[in-house]
Amino acid sequence: MPDAAVMPICDPCRPQPNGPPAIVLDDLVLERGGKRLIDGLSMAVPAQGVTVVMGPNGAGKSLALRLIAGLIAPSGGRLEFLAGDDTRRQIAFVFQKPVLLRRSVRANLDHALRTYGTPRRERADRLAELLTLGQLTDLAERPARVLSGGEQQRVAMVRALAAAPKVLLLDEPTASLDPQATAAIEALIRRAVDDGVSVVLVTHQAGQAQRLADGVCFLHQGRLREAAPAAAFFRSPRSPEARAYLAGELLL
Ligand SMILES: Nc1ncnc2c1ncn2[C@@H]1O[C@H](COP(=O)(O)OP(=O)(O)OP(=O)(O)O)[C@@H](O)[C@H]1O
Ligand SMILES: [Mg+2]
Repeated sequence: MPDAAVMPICDPCRPQPNGPPAIVLDDLVLERGGKRLIDGLSMAVPAQGVTVVMGPNGAGKSLALRLIAGLIAPSGGRLEFLAGDDTRRQIAFVFQKPVLLRRSVRANLDHALRTYGTPRRERADRLAELLTLGQLTDLAERPARVLSGGEQQRVAMVRALAAAPKVLLLDEPTASLDPQATAAIEALIRRAVDDGVSVVLVTHQAGQAQRLADGVCFLHQGRLREAAPAAAFFRSPRSPEARAYLAGELLL
């Protein structure tokens, strides 16, 4: 029986002021070694705005993002791309630890633009734009892998934006960053949202979630326990699991 507090479709996604959601997860299941790591996950990724995914360590947040990105195949259920299968190719992913090429910042971004098929005559302008956006112009010739964590994450963010994605999946992108570096990443997230990108953000930082979220989906033990508009979620979470998590209590 589904938990009464859990809507089959993430309720921040309805009503739909911006039209239908970009992606619907319908009863997704992921099993490994006889264990259900994702257990009947149904939610929608809205076409715009920020959906924050919260939950304790091991809840299945990263796996959920990987399923959405198509990096792993579900054992059951399905993903629906309502705007067409093109959306599947317009998903970008930023991991907690950036994985950058052993090249300069400029070469990393240029490689991304080539990969995403940016026409040659537009590449130099787009590259300059991305460097400016990431406040990376002065770092452009530096080897990307020697940059600080915050700088590398800015490269990873603008590299993801080079794809002009419809959906941007962010897995704890500021987990090990200081407040200033975090603010820079949050500014990039806001900018992406202003440009119409739908962002799915996994974070343990309640402050960050409150600053950015339109809707929150709360996972625990591979299941969606609660989905709510952000203001309602933080004011009065309905599920005992989310209440305990936000109160800083240990959830097993
Ligand atoms: N390939 C795998 N085989 C077996 N178990 C796995 C596999 N990948 C992940 N898990 C388990 O699935 C559960 C969910 O993992 P996931 O990485 O999604 O958690 P999370 O919510 O992102 O946690 P965190 O906040 O620590 O990042 C964990 O218990 C993890 O150990
Ligand atoms: Mg994770």
